[in-house]
Amino acid sequence: MSKIVWKGSAMLAPVPPALVTCGTMKHPNVLTVAWTGIVCTHPPMTYISVRPSRYSYSIINNAREFVINLPTSSMSRITDYCGMKTGAKTNKIEKCHLELSEGSTVSAPVLTQCPVSLECKVCEVRHLGTHTMFLADITAVQVDDKYIDSKGKFNLQQAGLLAYAHGEYFALGRKCGDFGFSVKKKHKNNL
Ligand SMILES: Cc1cc2nc3c(=O)[nH]c(=O)nc-3n(C[C@H](O)[C@H](O)[C@H](O)COP(=O)(O)O)c2cc1C
Repeated sequence: MSKIVWKGSAMLAPVPPALVTCGTMKHPNVLTVAWTGIVCTHPPMTYISVRPSRYSYSIINNAREFVINLPTSSMSRITDYCGMKTGAKTNKIEKCHLELSEGSTVSAPVLTQCPVSLECKVCEVRHLGTHTMFLADITAVQVDDKYIDSKGKFNLQQAGLLAYAHGEYFALGRKCGDFGFSVKKKHKNNL
């Protein structure tokens, strides 16, 4: 196998194309953000990187709160639309028939249709270049109870989450392992 070396670029994939809500229940907005991830388990922390030109930027910068909502693959069109249109000109919430519910720790609304929503409070703002990173504490997580089984286990794979890789959307596919399975006796010699 030979590799071609390119100059450094933002080629990390797949990533979640999150629907980030901001503002309030009365004056909400939503934008699509792919530059997001977890940066710490305890305390639970995340980030979103947003261009200052986005309508949502000043809303998040002023309120220092937002919600990361994970869309399902059936929401791919909505997810793309919320990344194409600006809330400065279009009411994306109404246009996409998005249902809002209250955050438990933030004023920013939660998207009811998304199976997982992370309520976030900004703790640090870093201007990196094209994007500004909002580092945030995850103050609460709302999950759709229809994915919680009788034993209380949250079966996120059933939600059919949407993934984004290099300009394309994908439905998360076949499960091919679970955490720690490579070191369980049964599989030990198959690396
Ligand atoms: C798949 C996808 C991922 C995106 N990721 C980001 C991102 O990480 N950061 C960002 O600033 N904009 C990102 N965008 C662009 C914004 O979502 C887009 O400019 C949106 O219209 C901004 O909405 P607003 O003006 O209402 O805030 C992305 C768009 C798409 C379609």
